[in-house]
Amino acid sequence: MMPIQSLSQSLSRQGVARFFQTLRDKYPDPETRLKDLSVEEVGPGREVVILGRRVVNFGSDSFLGLDRDDRVSESLIAGIRRWGSHYGSSRAFTSAGVCVRAEERIARWLGTEAALLFPSVTLANGGVIPALVTKKDVIVADEYAHNSMSEAIRIASSNGTRTFTFKHNDPIDLERALREARPYSHALIAIDGVYSMAGDLPPLEEFQEIADRNDGILYIDDAHGTGVMGANGRGTVAAFPDVMRKSLVIGSLSKGFSCFGAFVGCPLAMLDLLKMRSNTWIFGGPIPPCYMEAICTVLDILESDEYDKLMANLDRNRVLLVERATEQGWHVLGGETPIVSLFVGDEDDTLKAGQYLFQRGFFTQSVTFPAVPFRCGVLRIQVNANHTEAEVLGLTEALGELIAMSATEATAAA
Ligand SMILES: Cc1ncc(COP(=O)(O)O)c(C=O)c1O
Repeated sequence: MMPIQSLSQSLSRQGVARFFQTLRDKYPDPETRLKDLSVEEVGPGREVVILGRRVVNFGSDSFLGLDRDDRVSESLIAGIRRWGSHYGSSRAFTSAGVCVRAEERIARWLGTEAALLFPSVTLANGGVIPALVTKKDVIVADEYAHNSMSEAIRIASSNGTRTFTFKHNDPIDLERALREARPYSHALIAIDGVYSMAGDLPPLEEFQEIADRNDGILYIDDAHGTGVMGANGRGTVAAFPDVMRKSLVIGSLSKGFSCFGAFVGCPLAMLDLLKMRSNTWIFGGPIPPCYMEAICTVLDILESDEYDKLMANLDRNRVLLVERATEQGWHVLGGETPIVSLFVGDEDDTLKAGQYLFQRGFFTQSVTFPAVPFRCGVLRIQVNANHTEAEVLGLTEALGELIAMSATEATAAA
């Protein structure tokens, strides 16, 4: 056997691979697993064709529906005409002019002194977190901080920074972790702005007070808050000017923005240091320039009166879903953001619930371990501004049938 074959064999016996294989063996039908799917057709609106079935997509991060906006698409096409398909150089050497323009515009919109762009939030976290700390500093992270932060924290740890975790969204446990971490020079406190699986929010003001008392700096990955939270979509942190001034905020340009990439909002003094210390920025390539043209077009929309109309649609859809699902007896997690998760629990039940909705014409994400703790499966529903009211009502009707069926099954089994 060649080493590459024996390596595959040995990897397939490891924890997560074994768990997925068990689910695959148990549910060979892709309509039940609903993972690793290929979308065959997109549109009109939020419709997609998956596994030959036309369904309404409730699994898209394009919260404002701007992936279907002609102005955004036209600016991408114009960007390709102007800059070509890509600008293939590390930004440590040269950047397309539109990249600098997009950074200046993002900083102005966000209200920070500067912004630095990365091709993804994963690459921003992977570059910035290790760049911000030394052996004298510590990182204290929420136990549910996004995986891309956990991986970045591992890099910082291997560089000699001590790392700690605290219980999810728990200020008392954050204080405990900071006490344990002493002595240190600075503590980077890593949290999400919106938790991506349950859609819940951190207690930002309380965390800021604790950071102030403990030489701490909040590092907030607001990937899911960008574009849909705060005034003009400036994110979850925008409602708290004191937090914004003292923290590092990471936003996504791939979700609410429906473009590509990520930004870090920071003070000017930090900008040059990040350019010197962030390895993914130095050794990786840039966002294709055409996307930076599109990012500027999205900023025009966010800063215009139209933004309120988009948010009014999004809020109407979100509230309708949350209210109906709660009335039906679903345990709704989050609900303050366009990520609405309905707790199911068992892995098998979660997959079957997703399959039922899919067969009724609605794609939602059946999220199971390891994205959530074992036996804590959720139906993750992403509401978009361009879902029609009829589509949301159709989904809630199917959810009502689903919960009634589960109750009947439970009674029969009792
Ligand atoms: C909080 C958070 N950070 C980072 C990411 C990854 O973002 P990207 O796809 O830009 O790497 C996600 C993805 O959903 C996320 O929810």
